[in-house]
Amino acid sequence: MKTTVLQSTPTSLARAARALHEGKLVAFPTETVYGVGANAKDSKAVKQIFIAKGRPQDNPLLVHVSSQEMLAGVVKKVPPRAKKLIDTFWPGPLTLILPAAKTLAPEVTAGLNTVAVRMPSNAIARALIAQAGVPIAAPSANTSGKPSPTTAAHVKTDLQGKIPFIVDGGPTKFGVESTIIDVSRSPAIILRPGAITKEAIERVIGRVRVAGLTSKLRAPGMKYRHYAPRAVLVLVEDNMAAARAAYAGKKVKLFRSGELTLRNLYAKLRKADDDGYAVLLVPAVKEVGDGLALMNRLKKAASRVI
Ligand code: TXA
Ligand code: MG
Repeated sequence: MKTTVLQSTPTSLARAARALHEGKLVAFPTETVYGVGANAKDSKAVKQIFIAKGRPQDNPLLVHVSSQEMLAGVVKKVPPRAKKLIDTFWPGPLTLILPAAKTLAPEVTAGLNTVAVRMPSNAIARALIAQAGVPIAAPSANTSGKPSPTTAAHVKTDLQGKIPFIVDGGPTKFGVESTIIDVSRSPAIILRPGAITKEAIERVIGRVRVAGLTSKLRAPGMKYRHYAPRAVLVLVEDNMAAARAAYAGKKVKLFRSGELTLRNLYAKLRKADDDGYAVLLVPAVKEVGDGLALMNRLKKAASRVI
């Protein structure tokens, strides 16, 4: 299959929106990472996403909407606490787990009776969804397991020849995925830390919990190894000297403390692979603010903790 990279001109966006409407796959920028989208009501289209990414079938997809009306079409109801979060953080990088309407292709929810849904703030994403006129199921546009794509070039590396269109909207703003929260429990629980901090959410709805890396409550997809570069990533909790000694003689990239941020993490991991490093030594950070999501991704990507 030929993959066409489109710039975000009105004509190209109209072409991409038509493709989505017709059941084709289109990768597009959001404010977090690039997603690879399909019409969420079209089973045949949604199935293509799993094939293109090599994604396990039991891992449900995230649905993107462009308006409150579209939201009303994909969920059964919006409880008051969810409404509060929506009013504060949408459009933006917060994903809510809500009771799913029967309108979605069953592959989207992987058989669950809930759906993960968000309204992106990226103008290209919003325009594309609005013009397609249907909710768009879109996981991150990477090959399953690899670091998520934050540029159109990253998407091309992973999905060239597997999808017909990529819309290039430049580098993404946050660089890391949305925060996923389930408000059906009390206290609400963050299933995946992300672009919006726990602290910011707690200012709106009070105390929330965070699902542990091995918790049964976390998002289904979190059980898989994720975000991982080809190189061996070693998370260094305290002894950098010991870590360096352990990999002496190898091509080692040593990240300085504070060098990796949510914004540049995935791009830097991909770059380290391109540069041919065998080992990446990454100092651990405190799990507060952005540090919570950063450590979540590093732990999931790490082969070893020293
Ligand atoms: O920022 C983002 O969230 C990006 C952009 C493209 O929007 N999307 C993204 O999608 O990260 P994806 O599919 O890579 O991650 C969605 C996560 C998966 O871990 C999946 O298991 C979880 O959401 N998920 C989907 N439906 C769920 C549900 N009903 N209950 C719990 N977790 C769910
Ligand atoms: Mg993903």
